[in-house]
Amino acid sequence: MKILHLISSPQGEASFSVKLGNAVVKELQSANPDNTLTTHDLSATPYPHLEEAHLTSFYTPEEKRTPELAEAVKHSDEAIAELMAADAIVIDTPMYNFSIPSTLKTWIDHIARAGKTFKYDGKAPEGLVKNKKVYLAIASGGVYSEGFMKAYDFTEPYLRAVLGFMGMTDIKAFRVEGIKVPDLQATALDRAIASIEL
Ligand SMILES: Cc1cc2nc3c(=O)[nH]c(=O)nc-3n(C[C@H](O)[C@H](O)[C@H](O)COP(=O)(O)O)c2cc1C
Repeated sequence: MKILHLISSPQGEASFSVKLGNAVVKELQSANPDNTLTTHDLSATPYPHLEEAHLTSFYTPEEKRTPELAEAVKHSDEAIAELMAADAIVIDTPMYNFSIPSTLKTWIDHIARAGKTFKYDGKAPEGLVKNKKVYLAIASGGVYSEGFMKAYDFTEPYLRAVLGFMGMTDIKAFRVEGIKVPDLQATALDRAIASIEL
């Protein structure tokens, strides 16, 4: 099995989402030592925000692309090829302002492409990224999986929606929550790692 590990925190080894994501990867690898791993740090090597040339390239047939458009589409083509090659995708994400970091959003903007990762067949959209297992490793200062802040969680529901739209419906989410909450922070990571079930 090929594992793709996407990192979106800029905090390196200090990142809680990365620590949790690493624990998921470790379990996947111990389940099958033949698994291969590709790690892509979206914070260290971010995709560019979508500009006009990217959008034009998406909607221009390959044989009609100018050299500039052919260059512009490369980011998206590479991101989609990397995604399609993987069997399991581990996505580490902090919660930023109730949602995801812009680096992860930009990756999504490059992989969500009509005709490549989804299509409209008649009226119903169809996801084209099939047979993937997705594991989300989400870190947040507060607690959002339950309680009064649950309504503010646009991290896990958004990722489930947008990845599901592209066909990635086999999604498990693990959360390290409350790392800014004095009573919870000391045990938050251990509890999150203990919750991992592949
Ligand atoms: C820009 C920014 C925005 C944040 N927004 C939230 C938030 O909306 N809710 C929350 O609970 N924590 C928030 N936090 C706290 C982070 O989610 C928390 O520190 C988390 O551990 C960051 O992930 P990381 O350790 O993987 O970098 C924010 C932190 C930063 C730096």
